[in-house]
Amino acid sequence: MDSTTRRSWAEPFKIKMVEPIRVMSRAERERAIGEAGFNTFLLKSDDVYIDLLTDSGTSAMSDYQWAGMMLGDEAYAGSRNFYHLEEAVRKYYGYKYIVPTHQGRAAEHILSRIAIKPGDYVPGNMYFTTTRLHQELAGGTFEDVIIDEAHDPTSVHPFKGNVDLDKLESLIKRVGPERIPYVSLAATVNMAGGQPISLANMRAVRELTNRYGIRVILDAARAVENAYFIQQRETGYAETPVATILREMCGYTDGCTMSAKKDPLVNIGGFLALNDPELFEEARNLIVVYEGLHTYGGLAGRDMEAMARGIEEAVNDDSIRARVGQVEYLGNQLLAADAPIVTPIGGHAVYLDARRFYPQLKQDEFPAQMLAAQLYLDSGVRSMERGIVSAGRDPETGEHHYPKLELVRLAIPRRVYTQSHMDVVAESVAEVYRQRRDVRGLRMTFEPKYLRFFQARFEPLG
Ligand code: F0G
Repeated sequence: MDSTTRRSWAEPFKIKMVEPIRVMSRAERERAIGEAGFNTFLLKSDDVYIDLLTDSGTSAMSDYQWAGMMLGDEAYAGSRNFYHLEEAVRKYYGYKYIVPTHQGRAAEHILSRIAIKPGDYVPGNMYFTTTRLHQELAGGTFEDVIIDEAHDPTSVHPFKGNVDLDKLESLIKRVGPERIPYVSLAATVNMAGGQPISLANMRAVRELTNRYGIRVILDAARAVENAYFIQQRETGYAETPVATILREMCGYTDGCTMSAKKDPLVNIGGFLALNDPELFEEARNLIVVYEGLHTYGGLAGRDMEAMARGIEEAVNDDSIRARVGQVEYLGNQLLAADAPIVTPIGGHAVYLDARRFYPQLKQDEFPAQMLAAQLYLDSGVRSMERGIVSAGRDPETGEHHYPKLELVRLAIPRRVYTQSHMDVVAESVAEVYRQRRDVRGLRMTFEPKYLRFFQARFEPLG
């Protein structure tokens, strides 16, 4: 039967190897979350039942990727796997030059160092934690130019990742184009709830930045998921393969930073891709200082081979449909249970709206941090805070950033869990929602200087 007439669908793969997991008792979970300072990042993975902390580096590789691992050319210089990777990036993303990096933030580091001068402004469609920090460490100031709907968890705008062109143009007019090294464009927008940007908007950003001679750099970690949403939602693309849409998206930009731990289906890896030969030369200069030679950038040859093969697999239309389809399946279960989530359902994760779970808590009592802890206590499901703790402090004033979105992210690893796992998660979220009224907040007892959400510790109030 042809897939368009089939009534239900399933993943386009079967399972060849399994990894046992176990569920602990409630008493064991209470001890574990207490020892972890109510921070799910500090839990031991062995103490977790279903791990939805992140979709980053947690994918299951295919037999094709594992076979590629055996073909690693571990030469210090000029590994053949580097050339495979370069070829895959050119073919599927369309950029001319690449330097491999050990993961996404290393590409962000190199890019920020070569492109940003102190006093510069970097506009973007919402911040991402590591991206903004590298921009700030290079002396830049991040400016949020995403549309207002992105900050409203109940808006059902189909492209909540879109740039507000008026916000962007008024920033350019206010500070001058020479103080804007590039526009930092994410696809899909993680902090907004995994929300896509439309092709029409990317095209408009390109036209506007061309007028002022400003570059556009894509955060391509989840660009394939974005391309899938364009296929599903944007007029005129329903019949266009995701791979073609991806090339068009990248064509409106001058380069990308990539965390290959997402779309490209590897456990470690990334790259910086650029079209400008001069900027690329500067990146090649710095890569040897911070990562490794320009043909391995902190990776083994086998890692680059797995990445090249993962890039090829990720753009397959059936694969990406199953990937986003599983996230949608979980989101729809939660909507059916009336649990408050961010709409539309995101590409890599379902986001719980902690403000609507716990209206009794003030934002500096860390409602989302507490909600992630409650979910773990209920079922051993691990999630992540994406609210005030993740937003950190304003480097000028030292005050908390108070983001509008106070969320808990249930990120789905690619090709790892089954529909039954999603059912267990949905039941647990529904249970935590039923018990919402008695929940009190948290107090932060330890706060690291950078990216505090990773290692901060908390205690229950009262
Ligand atoms: N950009 C986006 C949009 C990301 O989501 C991440 C990582 C990075 C850049 C940095 O890449 O981790 O390879 O250094 N996101 C992970 C997450 C950590 O859980 O969302 P990295």
